Amino acid sequence: MAKTSRRTFLQQSALITAWCCAGGTGSLTSCGVTRPAVADTAEDDQGLYVPLSAAEGKNSMLVRSRRFDEPLLLMRRADGTWQALLMRCPHKGCTVVQRNDKLVCPCHGSEFTPEGQLLKGPARQPLTSFPVTATSKHLEVRF
Ligand code: FES
Repeated sequence: MAKTSRRTFLQQSALITAWCCAGGTGSLTSCGVTRPAVADTAEDDQGLYVPLSAAEGKNSMLVRSRRFDEPLLLMRRADGTWQALLMRCPHKGCTVVQRNDKLVCPCHGSEFTPEGQLLKGPARQPLTSFPVTATSKHLEVRF
């Protein structure tokens, strides 16, 4: 798995923070925003479909799925592929947030890498990730 540099992660975090706090189409539970992050996503039994136009020029974005209370963080890897992380802490289910160069659970302090790997407990598992396929029209998150 490609590693994200600290600089890249911070840039991505800043984008997400600005996106969320600007009240645009972004959504982070910690910001208290509950509307869909990308208005025209579609979803069926197999997955979530994010228009490529929504991802244009971005290395990361938060999207909502009706399957989860927490957002999904879509991040572009260094090799250009995408990954989706469910921002739900595997310890007791709090919403994970981005802090500096980590994904952090505000409830009991578990920490994860930008790729969702466990750095520090009490969680014992990584964040849940889902495969993402880029087609000519969409990023498809497969559940
Ligand atoms: S719920 Fe995240 S560390 Fe406990």
